Order: sequence, then C-alpha cells, then structure tokens
Amino acid sequence: MEPKGARRESILDLLHDAGGLRPGAVGRVHLDSKVPEADVYGVATFYHLLADTTTDVFVCDGLSCRIAGCNSVMDELQARGEKARFVSCVGRCDAAPATWDRRGRPETLSPALSPSSDKHAIDLAAEDTQPYDALALARDKGADWVVAEIEGSGIQGRGGAGFPAAVKWKGVRAQAVKERYIVLNADEGEPGTFKDREVMLRRPHLVIEGLAIAAFALEALEIYIYVRGEFGAAKAALVGAVEEAKQRGDLDDRLRWHFVDGHGAYICGEETALLEALEGRRGMPRMKPPFPVESGFRGKPTLIQNVETIACVPAILRNGGAWFRGLGRTAPGSKLYCMSGHVTRPGVYEAPLGVSMRELLELAGGAVGTVKAFSPGGASSGFLPASKLDVAMDFRSLAVEGSMLGSAGVVVLNESVDMVEASLAQAVFFEQESCGQCSPCRIGTQIIRQTLERYLASGRDPKTLAIIPEVSWGMSEASICGLGLAASLPVKSAMTWFPEEFGIG
Ligand SMILES: Cc1cc2nc3c(=O)[nH]c(=O)nc-3n(C[C@H](O)[C@H](O)[C@H](O)COP(=O)(O)O)c2cc1C
Ligand code: SF4
Repeated sequence: MEPKGARRESILDLLHDAGGLRPGAVGRVHLDSKVPEADVYGVATFYHLLADTTTDVFVCDGLSCRIAGCNSVMDELQARGEKARFVSCVGRCDAAPATWDRRGRPETLSPALSPSSDKHAIDLAAEDTQPYDALALARDKGADWVVAEIEGSGIQGRGGAGFPAAVKWKGVRAQAVKERYIVLNADEGEPGTFKDREVMLRRPHLVIEGLAIAAFALEALEIYIYVRGEFGAAKAALVGAVEEAKQRGDLDDRLRWHFVDGHGAYICGEETALLEALEGRRGMPRMKPPFPVESGFRGKPTLIQNVETIACVPAILRNGGAWFRGLGRTAPGSKLYCMSGHVTRPGVYEAPLGVSMRELLELAGGAVGTVKAFSPGGASSGFLPASKLDVAMDFRSLAVEGSMLGSAGVVVLNESVDMVEASLAQAVFFEQESCGQCSPCRIGTQIIRQTLERYLASGRDPKTLAIIPEVSWGMSEASICGLGLAASLPVKSAMTWFPEEFGIG
C-alpha cells in the first residue's frame, strides 16, 4: 500500500536533484515525496549513478573497450588524480576505449556512418529537416490506414526481441481503456550497441514525428521518453526537436511530452523494468502476462517501442509499408548495425535486414587482423565463429544458429582474443546487471563468473567447468526476463565453437 498522497513517480528525479545518495538526501526526498525513507533508500541503491556519488569518470571495461586497452585509460586517469572507476558499458563502443564523464564533458558523434541513400528508412547521414508530412498524412488518412501500413511494412521491433510492431499497435487499440501511454525506450545499454544514440543525435525530428504518429493512431495523449542517463546530448536533441516542432505548429497541442532520465541500470532497458523505473521503483522486470499493451504504465494500455523502430515510422507512411518491406533482403526493412571491436571503421551502418556479416565488415572498412569470432547482437547473443560470416544477419537466421540479432551490436574479435577472457568479460557484465529477483539468475551469473575465474586460475583445468551446463539450464528454465535467459550464452557458445580453448576439444 502506498502512503496517502505519496508522489512515488517523482523520487528518482528528486534523488538525482539531491546529487544521489548523499548524507541527508533520503530524508529530504522522503519529505518531498511522502515515500518512506527505507523505501527511498532501497530504490536509490538499485541505480548505480545514484548510489555512487564519488566517481567522476566511468571507464568502460566492456568487450570492445577491453580489446582497445581500457586498462591504460584507467592508469592515465588515476595518474592525473581523477576519481575514476570501471563500469561494464557507457554506450560508446565505437570510441573504444570509452569513458563517460558525469561532469558533462561533450559527447562526440560516431566517427563512421553509411552514406545517405534512398534505400534507407532512417538514413543517419541525411539532414534532419523534417516537414512532418508523414504525420500530416496520418491525420489525413486516419488511424486504420496508419496501422495497416505499419502491418504491411512487416517491421519487427529493433530493441532486441524482433516482435512485430503492428501486433502491439493493434493490441493497444483493442483495449477499452482510453487512458493510454506511448513510451520510448531510449535506454540503449546492451554492450556493443550505440545506434539509438546516433538516431537521437542526428535525426531527433524523425523520432518525435514517429512518436506523434503513434500517439495519433493509438489515441494516446501522454508520451514518456526514457533516455539512458549517460546520453545527455541525445536527450537535449530530442527536447530541442519537440520545442521546434511545437513552435512550428507541427504537433498536437494536447500532447504532453515527458523526458525521464535513466540512472545507470542496464536492466531498465527491459520494457517492464523500464515501467517500474518510470513509476519510481527498483527496476525489476514484471511477470508477463499481462503485457504492457494491456497493463503497462500505471496499469494502463501502453505502447513501448525502441528508438530505431519509432524512427522508421515516418518513412513507412511516406513511402508505404510495401516499400519498407522491400528494403530488406531476408526480412522486412533496412536495419542499423553497430560495428565495433576489431574493425577498421567502427560506427553505425544501415543495410538491408539479412545482409551478411562479411558485407558488414566491408562497410566498416574490413577487419583489423583475421576474424576469429563475432557477437552479432551484443553481449546477449554470445559468439559465433568466423565460419559463420555468411549467415544472414536477421532475427530468424541467427536464431537458427543458436544466437540472436538482438539490438545488432556487432562486436568483431580477431585472432589475438582469448575466448575464455571474452566469455569472462560478458559474465562480469551479466553478474553486475542482474536485478537479483530470480535466484537462478542472481546466483547463476555469479557462479559462471567464478567458474571462469577458477578455470583460468587452475591453469585451465577443464574439470572446473563441469558445473556450467547445469547452472545455465536452471537459468534458462526459471528466469523472469531475457537477461537470465541470455547470460550463459557467451560461455556456452564459446565452449561450443572454441572447445580447445576450454580444454575440451
Ligand atoms: C535485459 C534486457 C535489456 C533490454 N534493453 C533494451 C534497450 O536498452 N533498449 C530497447 O529498446 N530494448 C531493450 N530491450 C527490449 C525491450 O524489453 C523491448 O522488447 C523493446 O523496448 C520493445 O521495443 P521494440 O519492439 O521496438 O524493439 C531489452 C530486453 C531485455 C530482456
Ligand atoms: S532473469 Fe535476472 S535480470 Fe531478469 S528478472 Fe530475473 S534476476 Fe532480474
């Protein structure tokens, strides 16, 4: 039971304004929000940017940044007397070894992009001079037409799961409840992924127009934009685009736009954990069903969509669903692929869905050294060997290979990489980011990390690895969300494709 008059939804902002968990902050937030102090404290400790009030510079030790030498960056910072510490991801794998300075030093744009093309639904290299003509078209032709075009386009969500967007749009419209919400998932936190950041920085009007179209079609008046805490410039770009569009009279005056900061918790990218964060709680995923289309934000019908998915909507309406479908090779649409690790030109490349990894490597200027392995879709997708370079990079083809496209955060590894060390880097990430509510995930991620450390410390005795299959089985059987389902994939896939490095080949 919530105390009478409590303003729970405000507590993360209040904690942020108080400078995080500093002495006295919990008491002040309690007085302002009426949420009990112990509860405020419990929420704050979940989010590392609120709980850690002393670090200025966060140094990424995710896989791409380890490869690029994050340890030397840390040594340099410490030599300069900076307050720095390692974290698993700062969303900048294209600038590895990456750091994020919370004192607000400027964020830079991705060094490489695919050139502008009319075969791209988003086209990062195009100017963001949006006439909002797709929104005008939507108003002219009506909501049924909009949803039919989205359905005709066949677009699958670009946030990771590849779920058909039209099913969600129709799901929200089918609800009798008229209080409905649109939520933009801009929490981009999967190591290897940095495409949404570029969309927000380079094409903010595309995102705002897509959201306004969704609100029109679903008769929603409130739009929540949840932006990763480290993406201050991306958030500012979206805020600026809303202001500009309002001034030009492009947006419905009744729409209310809310910008919400993430506070450093990867799990809040999971849609129901994100809703918990919006409601001022620890970001722990909810059991599904009910799904957000039926019972989402504040228990009301909610459309949650990834930045890239929403940014495709204007082009779908302008050119037609069939046009979008035709952009893909093995599945509908063009797709943003993030290339990092051992590639010559790390960056974001838009290509037909189903492009091969070999072609993506060409776009990124080729591999540095000889490709040994790659992660096609961030840490959650595990590893594939170089013999799979010709597999179509789409949701279904990669699932057949026991991997996933996920958020298309492609990390390339060359012959210098030790696959045990690479698996350990991913294990550390999942252990740090497990929300802890399911025992198999909380304990299993810890066991996997400890097992890999023990294997290395034992001089690579394969007997130390015997527990891995059982632990990963438990995680896949009893995890509430995708984190627990995916967390053992890096080590399992590395053992499958590189058995000799685990002493089992
Ligand atoms: C552990 C975990 C992390 C996730 N992180 C993100 C994320 O950062 N951004 C995102 O859009 N989707 C993320 N997702 C997927 C979302 O749950 C959800 O499917 C997505 O936001 C829906 O939008 P889409 O259909 O447009 O992809 C994550 C899922 C899981 C299980
Ligand atoms: S699987 Fe892991 S991250 Fe997901 S809800 Fe359970 S404990 Fe949390």
